[in-house]
Amino acid sequence: MKTILPLILLLWAFAAPSHVPTQAQAARADPPTYSNDGKLVRPDDYREWVYLTSGLGMTYGPAGTGRAPMFDNVFVTRESYRQFMQTGTWPEKTMFILEIRGAETNVSINNGGQTQGGIVALEAEVKDRSRFPETGWGYFNFGGAPNLQGAVAALPTSATCYSCHRQNTAVENTFVQFYPTLMEVARRMGTIKPAYDPAHKVQ
Ligand code: HEC
Repeated sequence: MKTILPLILLLWAFAAPSHVPTQAQAARADPPTYSNDGKLVRPDDYREWVYLTSGLGMTYGPAGTGRAPMFDNVFVTRESYRQFMQTGTWPEKTMFILEIRGAETNVSINNGGQTQGGIVALEAEVKDRSRFPETGWGYFNFGGAPNLQGAVAALPTSATCYSCHRQNTAVENTFVQFYPTLMEVARRMGTIKPAYDPAHKVQ
């Protein structure tokens, strides 16, 4: 017994820490999170959220502006995605990231087509009636790499984000018409805005 007890203690000491979740293992709450002065903190893990779409070279104004095409990748917080799949609507505190990347040609073995390059801009959108009583939704711009901001204040409601997203979106303030799997859900749940007109163009 004398020799076995220390052995048991030793084994226990090695085994015990594996039952305590480390910080990395503990589930992180979905953003949004705000700094003490009310700025939206740039999430560092949005690429672990739910991916909705990639648009390539999208232009909304007069066609053919001649700009180099860019990719945009859209991500939404996980729990909000789950709720949208069940209801066709976004719960309060839903957060989206729009990640805009340059398009590159001839990288590595690629001889045709285009691949994604560095981050040109990172933008966000949050549904929160208590924080944005006038619009219900807030819009944010973290800038572009390598000068991405760590936290930013909401853009003023005069910014074009608010009007374009209010007027041209299929579901609430979001462009669900470009997220094919979500559009199907919205159709089934009857949550497409009556005013949504797929033939409408922005002049
Ligand atoms: C002229 C119209 C227009 C303006 C202005 C505009 N957006 Fe958007 N936005 C879009 C479209 C179209 C999409 C869909 C992108 C896709 O399908 O890849 C989108 C998507 C987004 C998304 C993804 C979630 C969603 O709503 O579908 C975010 C976040 C976003 N925009 C933020 C912004 C911010 C911030 C601004 C202002 C700085 C802004 N947008 C200005 C048209 C606009």
